[in-house]
This record gives sequence, C-alpha cells and structure tokens, in this order.
Amino acid sequence: MSVPYRPRRLRTTPAMRAMVAETSVEPRQLVYPAFVAEGITGSRPISSLPGQSQHDLDNIRRVAEECAGLGLAGIMLFGVPQSKDATGSGALAEDGILNVATAAVKDAVGDDLLVMTDVCLDEFTDHGHCGVLAGDGRVDNDATNELYARMAVMHADRGAHVVAPSGMMDGQVGAIRDALDASGHQDTVIMAYAAKYASAFYGPFREAVDSSLTGDRKTYQQDPANAREALVEVELDLAEGADIVMVKPALSYLDILRQVRDAVNVPVAAYNVSGEYAMVEAAAERGWIDRERMVRELLTSIRRGGADIILTYWAMDFARWERSAR
Ligand code: PBG
Repeated sequence: MSVPYRPRRLRTTPAMRAMVAETSVEPRQLVYPAFVAEGITGSRPISSLPGQSQHDLDNIRRVAEECAGLGLAGIMLFGVPQSKDATGSGALAEDGILNVATAAVKDAVGDDLLVMTDVCLDEFTDHGHCGVLAGDGRVDNDATNELYARMAVMHADRGAHVVAPSGMMDGQVGAIRDALDASGHQDTVIMAYAAKYASAFYGPFREAVDSSLTGDRKTYQQDPANAREALVEVELDLAEGADIVMVKPALSYLDILRQVRDAVNVPVAAYNVSGEYAMVEAAAERGWIDRERMVRELLTSIRRGGADIILTYWAMDFARWERSAR
C-alpha cells in the first residue's frame, strides 16, 4: 500500500527544514536583564543564577555596550541599593543606584540599545514588598502608584527609552503615563508587566537583588490558577496607556501568552525568569542536558507561544551563538 502523505519530505535536509521553519529567534527581539549594585567594586556573581552577576557602574556600562554590539534589543536594569528602608526611598533619591545607572548606561549606549528600567519598589524596601505598606501591613495600592509615577519620571529624565512597571498595583500604568506626559516624556514607552503571576520561579531573583522578603506577593500578583484574569489585566493596562504588554513567567504560562497574543494588537513580551534559567543551568552543570540546544528550544517555544519580545538571561549567550554560527 502506498503512503499518500509524507510530511517527512519537508524534514530531509537542513536547508529544507530552514525553509519551512515557522518561528525564529533573533537577537533584535531579546532583552537582557541586568543588576547594578551600589557599594560593590567590579562584579559579584549571583550563586543561584550561574553566569549572572551584580555589577558596579563601570561594569554595567561595559555590559550594555556589549549588548549593543551583539545586536540585542535592550537591557533591563534592576537596581540593588546598599541600604533599604520601609518606603524604598533609594528609588527616589537623585543619586539612587538605579537612577545613576540609567544615566550611565544611556551615556554609554545612546540610542544603540534600548535602555529599560524596572519600575518597582521591592529592590528598595526593607520588607521586600513591591510597594509601601499601609497601617494594617497590606501594600497600599494608591500611595505606591504615586511613588512609581515619580520613579518613572526620574528614569525618563535620565534617558530611559522604556519604563517597565512590575509591581502589579491597580492603575499603575495610568499613573505613570499621566506623570510622563505631564513632564514632557510623551515618547517614553511603557512596557507593562500586565499578566504577572505570584510565582516560585522568581526564587533566584530574590538573591540577585538581596531581597529580604518574607511571605509572598499573592495579594497583588496573580494566582497561577487563573487565565481569564490575565486578559482583564492586559485590557486594563492597554486602556491606561501601555505600549507593550508582558506575560511573566514564560514557560509555565505559554497558554497565557498565546491568549494574550491573540487578544491584542500591540507587541507582547514574555519574561523568561530567573527560576527558569536556574533550572536549566543546574541541569546543564550536571551534564544532564545539552545547554545550547535546550536554550534554543526554550526561546523558540516562547516565540512560538506568542512573544514578540523575550526578556532572558540567555540573551547575550544566544546572540554569541548566532554570531559564531554564521
Ligand atoms: C519586581 C520584579 C521581580 C522580577 C522582575 N521584576 C520579582 C518579583 O516580582 O518577585 C523577577 C524576575 C526574575 O525572576 O527573573 N521588581
């Protein structure tokens, strides 16, 4: 009996497979998240994120220049202050680490790389929450939004192309958009962490920013059980003026990513987070998996799932592999 359909024909050679590949990953779609710390000299490795470090100002400039040279889309800056307090005042200090780093990186790369900043207070608060606390110990939504708005303006004043509110406060995008517009920053892009889940996959990030969080963020980040809620969050962020919406984490949330991609007509980003990176790096270290193949497959699947933009700690590695493959 003859076999009428032979899909294997399109898989016969590398050239054939390349011709019919539906999804590609390109350095221009990748954003490298990087940590800049106050009071350190050089770089300090983050043990739970093998290959990633906190950097001082000189080194973060160098990292950004390298990202630009590799053709990446951007660098996402996270600040790690030397001292933290209840209101995260380091975030709003003129000489606060994230403010200084934003200016330094912008000075180094100009418009050759998109300078992006995390607009959130958790790196700056001594309790580790993403906002200021009300008397009852809960995160005070509206008071926090005022601080986010001021933070975003400070970042934009220092040349950030993109600000990325990640605290999951209600109305944060609108508060930031209003403040940016009122201060002459109409063209500063807001990439909103729109559907952000209360996830165990952020574990290594806590070490990366010296977080002292006890407890969890379940009163403001989303329940992993919910999908429809993600679409509500995305809709609200767009109504408030978000230019790009993000889904986070990526790998356990590819279904959410697909639904968001199908629901909106703006660019969609996915954050391939610290725990996702750490799992693969740990397995690779033990020789259990082929690191490059696995990273390529994961990034491809995040793109296939619907991400136009991927924030990933593998951005520089990926761009280097692409360079040497050519
Ligand atoms: C909040 C923020 C977090 C991450 C990015 N922005 C931590 C959190 O929400 O708990 C996590 C990123 C990662 O795990 O790689 N400032």
